Amino acid sequence: MNLWIPHAAEVIGKRREALRVHTLRLRLRDEAVRRSYRFRSGQFNMLYVFGAGEVPISIVSDPDESGVLDHTIRIVGKVSAALVGLKKGDTVGLRGPYGSSWPLEEAAGKDVVIVTGGLGCAPVISVINYVANRRDRYGNLKIFHGVKTPKDLLYRARFHAWQKHPDTEVYLTVDHPDREWKYNVGVVTNLFRQVRINPDRSIVMMCGPETMMRHAVRDLLAQGLAEGRIYLSLERNMKCAVGFCGHCQFGPAFICKDGPVLRYDRIKEWFGTSEI
Ligand SMILES: Cc1cc2nc3c(=O)[nH]c(=O)nc-3n(C[C@H](O)[C@H](O)[C@H](O)COP(=O)(O)OP(=O)(O)OC[C@H]3O[C@@H](n4cnc5c(N)ncnc54)[C@H](O)[C@@H]3O)c2cc1C
Ligand code: FES
Repeated sequence: MNLWIPHAAEVIGKRREALRVHTLRLRLRDEAVRRSYRFRSGQFNMLYVFGAGEVPISIVSDPDESGVLDHTIRIVGKVSAALVGLKKGDTVGLRGPYGSSWPLEEAAGKDVVIVTGGLGCAPVISVINYVANRRDRYGNLKIFHGVKTPKDLLYRARFHAWQKHPDTEVYLTVDHPDREWKYNVGVVTNLFRQVRINPDRSIVMMCGPETMMRHAVRDLLAQGLAEGRIYLSLERNMKCAVGFCGHCQFGPAFICKDGPVLRYDRIKEWFGTSEI
């Protein structure tokens, strides 16, 4: 598959996840292109809607599920609205996959700790699905997810389903509970005081607002976790997705080709500086 050229992909399914959030299931129209397309969990595609524009969107389907590519999209502006407005049978331009992936080989045999916050973070959904579908390859799975209010909690059914997987713990928290909320209250990092993470066995994968991630990294390091065991997925505005235009520059790295998944010890100098 030529990474530079958008290929036609058909919308073969569309599912509403929450208000303004939908999952599009795409299938590359050309059979040869479809057969040669491979991605790893954590990577993204550039999706192009004719007449609207092109944006980076993470791939949330399972890499071993052949032929289909799921993308969960939140409407924030023109292109995301145009994507969500597509119907079954419509065509988008798709180029990719781009970027780095979650360290799933390195995590084999270890405990996996997922930390996520904010309004649904697509890159971690893909890694949770991946580990949940291959429980025998990984140790304990802990999922920490924090949002502002209960109505901001996307994928509620999936969190409940993951909780039922063997050796899997799900911790949900909100800043402002309502009467029905029966889980934790407070920022996601408060949970690290209640739940023991084994620093020698664990690998952490994190995605969400950068302020949340900065606090989470600080607290995990204080618990004895090594810097090289923490991975973050970062987002920046993108245009080319191949390291040419400079839109996504982050210190000496480009989020499109060196990221979006980056190991903390390799980026800590820039991650600690706001506005980079
Ligand atoms: C690697 C990567 C993976 C992504 N994966 C997903 C995904 O799976 N699902 C999804 O819904 N979105 C994802 N995004 C974000 C998505 O690309 C943007 O929401 C989209 O580009 C917005 O385009 P738009 O034309 O709809 O809105 P615009 O009109 O371009 O933007 C609307 C508002 O959103 C802000 N904005 C735009 N892009 C970003 C960004 N990357 N980070 C923070 N604020 C931004 C703008 O500053 C503006 O305020 C990802 C971004 C990156 C870099
Ligand atoms: S988007 Fe062009 S360099 Fe990353």
